[in-house]
Amino acid sequence: EEAERTERIEAALAELDDDVVVLGHNYQRREIVEHADFIGDSYQLSKEAAEADAEYVVFGGVTFMAESADIITDDDQTVILPSMEASCPMAGMAEALQVDSAWAEITAAAPDADIVPITYMNSYADLKAFCASHGGLVCTSSNAHRAFEYAFERGDKVLFLPDKHLGENTAYRLGMEDEIAKWDPWDPDGKDVEEVAESDIILWDGYCQVHERFRETHIEEIRTDHPDAQVVVHPECRREVVEAADVVGSTSTICETVANADPGETWAIGTEIHLTNHLQRWHPEVDVLALCGDACMDCNAMRQIDPNYLTWVLEELVEGRERNVIEVAPEEKELAEVALDRMLEI
Ligand code: 13P
Ligand code: SF4
Repeated sequence: EEAERTERIEAALAELDDDVVVLGHNYQRREIVEHADFIGDSYQLSKEAAEADAEYVVFGGVTFMAESADIITDDDQTVILPSMEASCPMAGMAEALQVDSAWAEITAAAPDADIVPITYMNSYADLKAFCASHGGLVCTSSNAHRAFEYAFERGDKVLFLPDKHLGENTAYRLGMEDEIAKWDPWDPDGKDVEEVAESDIILWDGYCQVHERFRETHIEEIRTDHPDAQVVVHPECRREVVEAADVVGSTSTICETVANADPGETWAIGTEIHLTNHLQRWHPEVDVLALCGDACMDCNAMRQIDPNYLTWVLEELVEGRERNVIEVAPEEKELAEVALDRMLEI
């Protein structure tokens, strides 16, 4: 069945030729990444989308990535997401309306402060537009520290959304760990408005359920069972996990770490399980382990991109039918692009 599907995908790609570019995030299934023209992290894929000439960008990733591709590409290019169900739960944790009302509360509590909002790429276009309209920008896990520096050159406080762990890990990286306050939008008693008004870094209380599962005990177990192992984790992991790891970085940093390892080295990977599996396949000379063994999760949103759906959207394009088009509303597009461009410039 897979061989037949591969043939159909290859035939459709050959037919579409330069009219289509397929982008694949590092967390996509093997059957998707092996058909991708570019595989990478969120930042790399947004750059590839920006540089793509093809009429169609077929995105192996999740909704917020496809939205960003639509914002960055030209108006005559069309972005297609093989499944409309591929929505990152973390991106859904900071809805623009909800952020708008929090912003009103926070700015009222700190009337003299100049607050710059930064949203992680893992957010929807309306939140990116919100950030731009308040002088803020987008970042990914590979440039969050640069985005914070940008913000502190222009203001005196940062509101970071939606991932509290990436925000906290970035604050530590910048030596600003004593400046953190958290903002829990779901718990009316869960925030201390005065503390927030005094803090320089305000973190929205969102998180990734895939990365929150990693615990310090997993690293301790790896170090006991594999004394030679080194550990690389994604910055969406909890602070104590990042602290106990040897290397922390975006999915492309994780890929580079294993690619640059000497044969025979052992690396335990603290991120989504598909990437760990890819690394085992791509680098058989390195001993690649999953940081939490069988408890490691795949990302349900990423998994929605079934290879049968990829086949379907490509074959439909061959027939001249555009399916699953991701189109950001024009009123959000312009401002969201400002927020993305600020990131691409830093
Ligand atoms: P990267 O930007 O590191 O690829 O991460 C994206 C993501 O969704 C991590 O969970
Ligand atoms: Fe979202 Fe986490 Fe999946 Fe990344 S791994 S897309 S942050 S749910």
